[in-house]
Amino acid sequence: MRVLVIGSGGREHALCRGLKLDPSVAELHCAPGNPGIAEIATTHQVNVLDGTAVADLAEDIGADLVVVGPEAPLVAGVADAVRERGVPCFGPSAEAARIEGSKSFAKEVMNAAGVPTARSFTCVTPEEAADALDAFGPPYVVKDDGLAAGKGVVVTEDREAALAHAAACERVVVEEFLDGPELSLFALCDGQTAVALQPAQDFKRALDGDEGPNTGGMGAYTPLPWAPEGLTEQIMEEVVRPTVAELAQRGLPYTGVLYAGLALTGKGPRVIEFNARFGDPETQVVLDRLETPLGGLLLACATGRLGGHEALRYRGGAAVTVVLAAENYPGEPVKGDPVEGLNPQVEGAYVLHAGTAVQNGKIVANGGRVLNVVGTGADVAAARAAAYEAMARLRLRGGHYRSDIAALG
Ligand code: AMP
Ligand code: GLY
Repeated sequence: MRVLVIGSGGREHALCRGLKLDPSVAELHCAPGNPGIAEIATTHQVNVLDGTAVADLAEDIGADLVVVGPEAPLVAGVADAVRERGVPCFGPSAEAARIEGSKSFAKEVMNAAGVPTARSFTCVTPEEAADALDAFGPPYVVKDDGLAAGKGVVVTEDREAALAHAAACERVVVEEFLDGPELSLFALCDGQTAVALQPAQDFKRALDGDEGPNTGGMGAYTPLPWAPEGLTEQIMEEVVRPTVAELAQRGLPYTGVLYAGLALTGKGPRVIEFNARFGDPETQVVLDRLETPLGGLLLACATGRLGGHEALRYRGGAAVTVVLAAENYPGEPVKGDPVEGLNPQVEGAYVLHAGTAVQNGKIVANGGRVLNVVGTGADVAAARAAAYEAMARLRLRGGHYRSDIAALG
């Protein structure tokens, strides 16, 4: 089959890599892609927020499947536009993607479905925000209601800072602080049926020891040796299936990946957020371990045939990914510096591109998260060692990475 992937980040490079390994994928296309993706797929320039343009491209190349990576095109209705042309698409409709695009919609769905999550208030005025903060007390959690690329959330002990974030956003969700380790669970969905992938954990803060500002994610690993037995099934039962059923009942069948970000609290798993897409960088490690051919699996989701799909298989062992970020990320990143060492020659390790570009024949930094170094091994410690050995061979002026990704115990 011919597959078109939409997006340009490390997640899309991981998707393309997985698809390339599937013998049923004869042709792989990506728009816009990045220089790493261009080594394994035919890349195309298109405005990924323009559903008509994406659907035209899918028709031009005779795509049998379109996979939409990032949230922005999903929320803009790109999956709807592709499906309207009769092309199978892995990615929820604009309406269903509101599970990510609007925090208050997500809360409403969870409450209707009885899904465990932090108690919350949606606030517009400063007075409402102040009342909500005082109802829960510190630490305060204030979330921009709209899409904010992973940067709309402030968690702080400082009431003034919490109020200032609320004032800077049009609408906020103020919620109860959830205490406990976090994990990411991706559920593949075909509108009716949901199947879990292996859970992963990511590291959202910029600096070691979970210090510094929030980012899109600085690294991840899978599997989670500390996770209690039966956790995935518990989350499917308590969170994912009720949510998918609630959306279907509202006439919003969910096709694509439902990403549950959860805190494992003393009272059990609680949803921190839903995303309508694969998590980045968790996808890099989860897809690395998935042995089931990816193209066939995503096509089964896009065509409502997930229920009849064979059980998922994994390679065993572990994978760890560490993000190399550009100088000043998560602020405005410094662009244009060359990156070197992209073929690290470390056994079990490889590099995936995210924010890169080609300038004068050289690969340069072109975004906040520039590269992902994926290490694999028999366990998390071995995978981590491979990832950091490869990272030590990369060169980017001003580049920075966390040194404690997947440092367990
Ligand atoms: P989000 O953008 O919703 O993933 O939030 C970013 C990060 O803020 C999460 O990964 C958590 O670490 C933290 N966070 C969000 N909501 C809560 C909450 N209710 N309690 C504690 N931490 C939270
Ligand atoms: N890694 C977090 C996210 O993709 O939102």
